[in-house]
Amino acid sequence: MSIEISPLVERVEFPPIAEAMSWIKKGPSNRELLNMCQAVPSYPPAPTLQAEIARLAGLPEIGGYTDIYGVAPLREAYAKHVSVDYGTRIAASEVAITTGCNQAFAAAIMAVAKAGDNVILPTPYYFNHQMWLTMMGIEIRPIPAFSNGTTHPDSMDAAALVDERTKAIILCTPNNPTGAIYPAAVLEQFFTVAQVAGIALVLDETYKDFRPDPVPPHGLFNKPDWQGTLIQLYSFSKIYALAGYRLGAMIAGPEIMYQVAKILDCMTICPPHITQRAVQFGLTALDDWKTEKKAVMRERLAALRSAFETPGLKYELVSSGAYFAYVKHPFMGELSKSVAKRLASENDVLCLPGSMFGPEQENYMRFAFANVEAHRMAGLAERLIESQ
Ligand SMILES: Cc1ncc(COP(=O)(O)O)c(C=O)c1O
Repeated sequence: MSIEISPLVERVEFPPIAEAMSWIKKGPSNRELLNMCQAVPSYPPAPTLQAEIARLAGLPEIGGYTDIYGVAPLREAYAKHVSVDYGTRIAASEVAITTGCNQAFAAAIMAVAKAGDNVILPTPYYFNHQMWLTMMGIEIRPIPAFSNGTTHPDSMDAAALVDERTKAIILCTPNNPTGAIYPAAVLEQFFTVAQVAGIALVLDETYKDFRPDPVPPHGLFNKPDWQGTLIQLYSFSKIYALAGYRLGAMIAGPEIMYQVAKILDCMTICPPHITQRAVQFGLTALDDWKTEKKAVMRERLAALRSAFETPGLKYELVSSGAYFAYVKHPFMGELSKSVAKRLASENDVLCLPGSMFGPEQENYMRFAFANVEAHRMAGLAERLIESQ
């Protein structure tokens, strides 16, 4: 006798990052790997933030639980940050701090959909979104992430798929895996489709800080009754280089807030206390450091785009923006995983195959270019040419 595994979990693919790591060439190599696999900042947290974490570690109360939604000063500081960044007014009561954005997503979905329901998800998608939905028994109705020659989806494709079992439209902007930054007008159109249908618009904005343009990402928080439609998600992992410390956030209206408390309480009781207090410091004291890092990211994006103009390079940059580039490889007919394995083992470039981001993605690869310094982008082009 052995333990019977739930088919909902069993049918989900094993986490892809771990698999990709196993492709790295073993043994000595005469050049450093260009690791563009996982989206992790290539720099440590700000020195003052590290010092603050060390100080916090010495406080007697820091080992204790906090409120389910997080400590009040952090909720207030984050509400203020979003209010400024989006040109709006968010109340602290509309903020839930979570144990990473992935938990915020899991809780948001669990609050609005159940097994047998469906949600609309542009493809290629962020694989953890797909994995969680599948494990929940929720049907994914895909729409193309690229529509009408643009690098964003079309709200009309979503509208055409809505039925009585549809509970949410899920969007991710700036997008993982494509890097595309969806125009505010497109987000408004999706919001309208969701509002008319009476379903949620779940908006993952993990990479919002890395948009090259400082204008507000969208005006959805200024719509009357946005609370009846929008659930906005965010991560503190990337901008503060705190991925391992696990902190994210959800912004939603009172009904969703009330319901997600039940879910968050069962999952983790509260988000990590020390990280909450560290991010509270970060939100008020690290503006200069963040500005500097955003400039570094813009420089990496420019270097990446120019590297893809290298004569003779047959890989095509299909989409790029914040953190990621989505690239068409030149080996039509070859599986993207086979191309990725070859790049890792022969060319010292680690990226993820399109197949990890959904069906019909075999011609594509995702490069988390933000991991790599600008001066190394020309080397990327050289290695890609070497692989052709
Ligand atoms: C789109 C997106 N959402 C959420 C996450 C996870 O964020 P967190 O580390 O806060 O759980 C990631 C991480 O790569 C991501 O790309």
